[in-house]
Amino acid sequence: MLTPQINLFKKSNPILVKVLENERLTPELGTGKRPKNEGDAAVHRIKLAVDHSVYPYLIGQSAGVIPPGVDPDKLAKGSADTGYTIRLYSIASPSHSFGQTKDNIEFVVKRDNVYDAEGNTVHKGVCSNYLCDLKPGDTVTMTGPAGKKFLLPLNDFSGDIYFFATGTGISPYLGMVEELFHHNHIQFSGNVTLIYGAPYSDEIVLRQYFESMAEKNPRFRFITAISREEKNSFDGGKMYITHRAKENSTEIKNAITANGRFYICGGPKGMERGVIEELMAACNTTLTYEEFKKDLEAKDQLFVETY
Ligand SMILES: Cc1cc2nc3c(=O)[nH]c(=O)nc-3n(C[C@H](O)[C@H](O)[C@H](O)COP(=O)(O)OP(=O)(O)OC[C@H]3O[C@@H](n4cnc5c(N)ncnc54)[C@H](O)[C@@H]3O)c2cc1C
Ligand SMILES: NC(=O)c1ccc[n+]([C@@H]2O[C@H](COP(=O)([O-])OP(=O)(O)OC[C@H]3O[C@@H](n4cnc5c(N)ncnc54)[C@H](OP(=O)(O)O)[C@@H]3O)[C@@H](O)[C@H]2O)c1
Repeated sequence: MLTPQINLFKKSNPILVKVLENERLTPELGTGKRPKNEGDAAVHRIKLAVDHSVYPYLIGQSAGVIPPGVDPDKLAKGSADTGYTIRLYSIASPSHSFGQTKDNIEFVVKRDNVYDAEGNTVHKGVCSNYLCDLKPGDTVTMTGPAGKKFLLPLNDFSGDIYFFATGTGISPYLGMVEELFHHNHIQFSGNVTLIYGAPYSDEIVLRQYFESMAEKNPRFRFITAISREEKNSFDGGKMYITHRAKENSTEIKNAITANGRFYICGGPKGMERGVIEELMAACNTTLTYEEFKKDLEAKDQLFVETY
C-alpha cells in the first residue's frame, strides 16, 4: 500500500526547483466575460522540474513555496526571521507526471489580489503573484510534501467518487482524474463526477482536458456551475456547486450508501458547509451537521480542503 510521505523538505532544508513552463489559463484583463471593474482573474498553470524519487508525492498532497524577499510586517515587528511564511499549493500533476518523459510537478495558481469597486488593485498577494510571474529557468524554493488526508483510495475501490471544486480548488482533481483513469495503482471500478464552480464560463480552467476525459470515459462526468452567468432552478439565484449537488441528490444518496467518497476543495473557506448540507439532505439524515461530517470523515468518505 502507498503511504504519503510528509515534510521531507522544510524551511531549514528546502528543495530548489527550476521552472519549466508558466501558462496563463484565463483571458487577459478586459478581454473575457469578467467586467473590468471586478479586477483581473489571472489563473496560471505552472510546471516545475522535480525528480519524483527525491520529492515523492501522492496526488492530493500540497507543496510549500517560500516567496523570496523580506516580509515588511515581520521586519517592522523586529522578528529574527524576516522571511515570508510558507504558502501551500495543491499539487495538480499526477504522481507519475503527465507524459512520463520528464519528472515534474504542476500547480494551478490564481493571483490572490484584492480590488476596489472600480477594479483597481488594493492588495497584491505576495506568493501567488511571485509564482504567476515566474519564467522558465527561474528557481523556486519549495518545502513538503504536505498533507496526508486529501488522498485517493490507497486500496482497491469500487464506490463512486464525487469531486467538488470552486476556483483553484480544481487543481488536485486534474491529477486525480488522470491517475484514476490512466495510471491507477489500485483497481477502481466506480464512477467519477466532477462538479466545478467558477464565476464566468471562461474562468472554467482546464475545461478541454475534463471534457475530453468525459468523452473518452463513460464512467466520468464533468458538470460546471457558472455563478455569474447561470441561474439555479431552485430559487432563481446564482448557480453554485451546491445546486448541482441538489440536482444529483438521488445519485449522491446511492453513492453515500455504497461507500462513495466526496472531496471538496477551493474557496471561500467554509464553503464546504453548503455542499455537506446537500449531502445531508440527499440522505435525509437526522444527525447534526457536525455529527454527519465527523461520521463520513471517520468512514473515509469525506475529504475537505478549503482555504
Ligand atoms: C492546503 C492549501 C492548498 C492551497 N492550494 C492552492 C492552489 O492550488 N492554488 C492557489 O492559487 N492557492 C492555493 N492555496 C492558497 C495559497 O496557499 C495562498 O493562500 C494564496 O496563494 C495567497 O497567498 P499570497 O501570498 O499570494 O497572498 P497574501 O499576500 O498572503 O494575501 C492573502 C490574502 O490576505 C488578504 N490581505 C493580506 N494583506 C492585505 C492587505 N494589505 N490589504 C488587503 N488585503 C490583504 C487578502 O485577502 C489577500 O487576498 C492553498 C491553500 C491551502 C491551505
Ligand atoms: N488562490 C486563490 O485564489 C485563493 C487563495 C486563498 C483564498 N481564496 C479565497 O477563495 C475564494 C474564491 O477564490 P477563487 O478566486 O479561487 O475562486 P473563484 O474563481 O472566485 O470561484 C469561486 C466560485 O465559488 C462561488 N462561491 C462563492 N461562495 C460559495 C459558496 N458558499 N458555495 C459554493 N460556491 C460559492 C463563487 O461565486 P460568486 O463569487 O459569483 O458568488 C465562484 O463561482 C475567495 O474568497 C478568495 O479570497 C482564494
